[in-house]
Amino acid sequence: MRIAMIGGGYVGLVSGACFAEFGTDVAIVERDPKRLEALRKGSIPIYEPGLDTIVATNTQAGRLTFGDDLSTAIENADAVFIAVGTPTRRGDGHADLTYVYDAAAEIARTAKRGLLVVTKSTVPVGTGREVARILREARPDLLFDVASNPEFLREGNAIGDFMRPDRVIIGIDESGPDQGISAKDALRELYRPLYMIDAPIVFTDLETAELTKYAANAFLAMKVTFINEMADLCEKVGGNIHDVARGMGLDERIGPRFLYPGPGYGGSCFPKDTRALTAIAQDAGAPTQLVEATVAVNEARKIRMAERIIEQAGGSVAGRTVGVLGLTFKPDTDDMREAASIPILHRLHDAGAVIQAFDPEGMTPARALLPEKIRYCDDALSAAENADILVVLTEWNMFRALDPARLKTAMRGTAIADLRNIWNSDTMKAAGFDYRSIGRV
Ligand code: UDX
Repeated sequence: MRIAMIGGGYVGLVSGACFAEFGTDVAIVERDPKRLEALRKGSIPIYEPGLDTIVATNTQAGRLTFGDDLSTAIENADAVFIAVGTPTRRGDGHADLTYVYDAAAEIARTAKRGLLVVTKSTVPVGTGREVARILREARPDLLFDVASNPEFLREGNAIGDFMRPDRVIIGIDESGPDQGISAKDALRELYRPLYMIDAPIVFTDLETAELTKYAANAFLAMKVTFINEMADLCEKVGGNIHDVARGMGLDERIGPRFLYPGPGYGGSCFPKDTRALTAIAQDAGAPTQLVEATVAVNEARKIRMAERIIEQAGGSVAGRTVGVLGLTFKPDTDDMREAASIPILHRLHDAGAVIQAFDPEGMTPARALLPEKIRYCDDALSAAENADILVVLTEWNMFRALDPARLKTAMRGTAIADLRNIWNSDTMKAAGFDYRSIGRV
């Protein structure tokens, strides 16, 4: 098979490379000249474990190519995937669909024969149908099938998630020229390696597929937010949040995953998708109050984390040195989008803190988003050097391995605000720290 992938961003690049790994010929169309040049040279613009290897292998095998011309890419393609960005639209929280509709219009302009068009970007309910309308209105002479195949990749684990997914959701427009029969066949063929490992592949309609993606992300965001609230409660009434989470998670109906407390969820998906879902639901006259509360609680939490640090530093951080370990929204990524570190460090900076930080991958993107005055350090111990308080914002494995005695010697003060619970409370207290973590004493 042969497919074209519009968009060489995170989703387009990972899924394009993985489809190529499955044996499909993949032509990625990327319009940003800098990004395209980097990709052509084999340099991967994002940090994702394992991605560089499969991009290199498949480029060398000739299965994965990069270009900026859609008409060449779709010339012999069986399907074209739309994997462009859907950022939050300013003002109303809706997803901005400009790039998706532009891609559909361009497919219509350049196609020489009928095609299967698949949206991979996270899009509101109704987008697939609108894509079908755009294609069929612009080119009544051609037969287009439209499908929605949302992506559930987690950053840092994207290759594994693609190769061994919990499920694949495929929504097909059955009002199309052949009631979606050929679309179904083509997508079955494309995902054939996953049938071999018995991964559930769920065929449904366009709207259901689109909503499933939002519902799944909103539910997970809610799960994280719930455990964060329980953690706060543990701190007030006593109790250990990890034991509470374990006890809850052993109930198979709840499950143990996504019950780790922290400074509030961030990233490129949860914040954007929860906002978009609440906007869709409000417009539809069926507001999702639980999701609205999740969004508000999570935003407020990030600010509250800064207050908590200030309080632990004795009520003021003015002129005091705050060492920071971790900046990205989670480990194993260089992604800083909507990271809890952004509002927290802005607040600490405004309160007069002298901030020195280290993150193994996120320091370059962080510079554009964090206060200018932050000093970026070469390693974790340098970030702790002479710090009055040390704050853990991302649970990179390398931080877990730090020797408490060496940290103690490096720091000026003894306060540690571990917002990811990476260390054992007893060990840190025994080492002489005023150690505070989330939801446990
Ligand atoms: C998420 C979804 O998991 C994925 O299926 C979807 O395709 C895209 O959005 P991702 O944004 O990569 O993936 O990150 P994820 O691992 O889900 O974490 C999101 C945020 O929640 C992070 O800030 C993380 O630190 C936080 N989180 C997650 C917690 O605080 N506690 C948890 O137990 C789990």
